[in-house]
Amino acid sequence: TMADHLRKYESAFTLTPQRMRMIVEAFKETLEVGLDKPGQIVPMIPTFVFGWPTGEEKGEFLAVDLGGTNLRVCLVTVQGDGKFEITQSKYRLTEEQKQDDGQKLFDFCAECLKTFIDTSLTEHGGLHLAAGEKIPLGFTFSYPCSQDRIDHGVLIRWTKGFGATNTEGHDVAAMFRQSLEKYDVPVGLEALINDTTGTLIASHYVNPKTKIAVIFGTGCNAAYMEHVKDIPKLQPLGIDGGDMAINCEWGAFDSFEHEHLPRTKYDIIVDQTSNKPGEQAFEKLISGRYLGEILRLVICELIDEGVLFLGQNTYKLESPYVFETAFLSLMESDPTEELLMIIGIFSHFFAVETTLAERQFFRALAKLIGRRAARLSACGIAAIVSKMGYLEEGCLVGADGSLYNKYPGFADRVHEGLVDIFGDKGRNIVTHHAEDGSGVGSAIIAAMTKRRKDAGI
Ligand code: BG6
Ligand code: GLC
Repeated sequence: TMADHLRKYESAFTLTPQRMRMIVEAFKETLEVGLDKPGQIVPMIPTFVFGWPTGEEKGEFLAVDLGGTNLRVCLVTVQGDGKFEITQSKYRLTEEQKQDDGQKLFDFCAECLKTFIDTSLTEHGGLHLAAGEKIPLGFTFSYPCSQDRIDHGVLIRWTKGFGATNTEGHDVAAMFRQSLEKYDVPVGLEALINDTTGTLIASHYVNPKTKIAVIFGTGCNAAYMEHVKDIPKLQPLGIDGGDMAINCEWGAFDSFEHEHLPRTKYDIIVDQTSNKPGEQAFEKLISGRYLGEILRLVICELIDEGVLFLGQNTYKLESPYVFETAFLSLMESDPTEELLMIIGIFSHFFAVETTLAERQFFRALAKLIGRRAARLSACGIAAIVSKMGYLEEGCLVGADGSLYNKYPGFADRVHEGLVDIFGDKGRNIVTHHAEDGSGVGSAIIAAMTKRRKDAGI
């Protein structure tokens, strides 16, 4: 019966508290190794964002945000009192743009920004620029880039299925500047940041109890504020004292060696058929880009075994990535006893009929996969909390991304996971949605950068 099959998957996808604590320990060590030496698998990237914002940052900034589901361009007015205003436009990237020449990708970003300035902003009263004046721009580029100052960054590797050529190993800020000049966009690129770093700074600006930021979206990653004295690999640069935000790039945890994370055979297929086998091992178990595909692979296995959809034509379910993670969200939130939403998904998108027992099975499977993702995420958060000693006092974790915002119960499952790891004290760690983290964050960081520059630091 379907119930027997479910039991098999339950044991494959369930994480016990004990296993979680082991993962946390290994994770903590990995974070420390990354801070110690350059070029580690989890690169623990120093962001050159020095300390928290004071809350008094002010001004009008443009932000371009590339690396989630959408390309966003925004005008952010930071008011200096914990408040901000934002006007934005979203553009969708095509699959081709993600794989084509990198310079073309930045050209497209520059064009969108130009259109935004020329059209949307004019409708909102426009920009008030003197001749030759440039408006400061923060560029949120959400891929691992190694930096030795804030306004440049060399792309270490593409993640999340991107593969644009002539970009890995290049300074993406310089590439973007070239495109901005080509389209004559009146902006000065002041800061290159990661979405996690932006979210960290923006959510701390709104609530200073925030010490960590996490993105659960197409990708999965975290940033937090570290003491410079505890970043040994920065010593040669002679930066002393103070704090610096670290972009962990924790999606790479357990890459290549696969020693610590419990991977099922479906996870191994996802990995091996990806454009980057071996890489982003943690992210591949968690992020929105992969969860639907994991579930699809289980369904395909049961089709092959003759358990599901006997006598029906199932070809529509057989192409990689056709089963979107949004379907898992919908299946888990179906309020009807008959699971009508699930009937709809399978008949409308995949042209197959389902029985109630099958639909209950699919829903249970979505729950297993979604719950595992949340509990693994809790392990990552716990590693930072425990490394930084935040457990006793407690802290907030700013979170953003489609999975966090749209997947039913995701946050609750992360919180449950934290209690499984830490016991009751785990309740001291609370995630919250970071309102427009990266747009606002990059504006605040651009403002912080400008202050430092004006002060001659
Ligand atoms: C958005 C942030 O809300 O979430 C982006 O503004 C971030 O910076 C994104 O990259 C992540 O979510 P997703 O689901 O779009 O990958
Ligand atoms: C991927 C990227 C990382 C980003 C995350 C969330 O892990 O490598 O830079 O922060 O996705 O968007």
